[in-house]
Amino acid sequence: MSGAPDVPRLVQDAARALRDRAGAEPPVAAIILGSGLGGFAARVHGAVRVPYRDVPGFPVPSVDGHAGEVLMGTVAGRRVVCFAGRFHLYEGHGADVAALPARVAHALGAPVLFASNAAGGVRRTFRPGDLMVIADHLNLMFRNPLIGPLVPGDVRFPDMSDPYDPALRRQLHEVARAAGVPLQDGVYCGLTGPTYETPAEVRMLERLGADAVGMSTVPEVIAARAMGMRCAGVSVITNPAAGLSLAPLAHDEVVEVGRQVAPRFEALVEGFVASL
Ligand code: HPA
Repeated sequence: MSGAPDVPRLVQDAARALRDRAGAEPPVAAIILGSGLGGFAARVHGAVRVPYRDVPGFPVPSVDGHAGEVLMGTVAGRRVVCFAGRFHLYEGHGADVAALPARVAHALGAPVLFASNAAGGVRRTFRPGDLMVIADHLNLMFRNPLIGPLVPGDVRFPDMSDPYDPALRRQLHEVARAAGVPLQDGVYCGLTGPTYETPAEVRMLERLGADAVGMSTVPEVIAARAMGMRCAGVSVITNPAAGLSLAPLAHDEVVEVGRQVAPRFEALVEGFVASL
């Protein structure tokens, strides 16, 4: 765990620092970019870029493929805040720290959280480069960012019957259809990592109802729901999960597939922002 940080204070300090740099106009959405997907940052126009080291309370990310900066600018003429890089449990962060980008986005006034990630394909028909709208998730991190004193403004026992907003999911599919981007639906399962799964674990996940597996997103979405934000998420399937192909898994390949999918992913996210 992270030694019980004073979350409300961290969030207010971070939001104030970002507003001081980029102005107070609230974003229509916050966008969290997963491994290898940081190229979307180039689509944020007129961006004020703030490295995480300059955001009070933000740790500096340690993983290749995660830039570690906040971008505030416009996409499709709409104001967004974009987090390139996130805080993972496997880096030693608590779930509350992993959820900081969602909390800061909320403090900036963003009503929508769009989370993206690189994920292993558990569904056997998934191929590297496939895009999956997250329809629901399994929290197998066995951590929850809401454990602890109630954060002012949070719901104590949030309803999770529709963690990923049905209307936003429909919007994503409409945008994908119009752009000719193939898009599937599935259940994302979050584990802590940093090990990739064993083949036996992947067979277990398959039986539990997972379609994709990764090491992020769940803490941010839980906190966002507790604050009443509408959430959407897309997984980029970068590899068949362990045991579903003969190849061993490597982080470099995960990042590389993310880069190859970038044009389709970026078109989808840009169209999504335009549709808000
Ligand atoms: N497992 C967990 N996380 C991942 C994977 C995987 O196979 N691929 C990309 N992120």
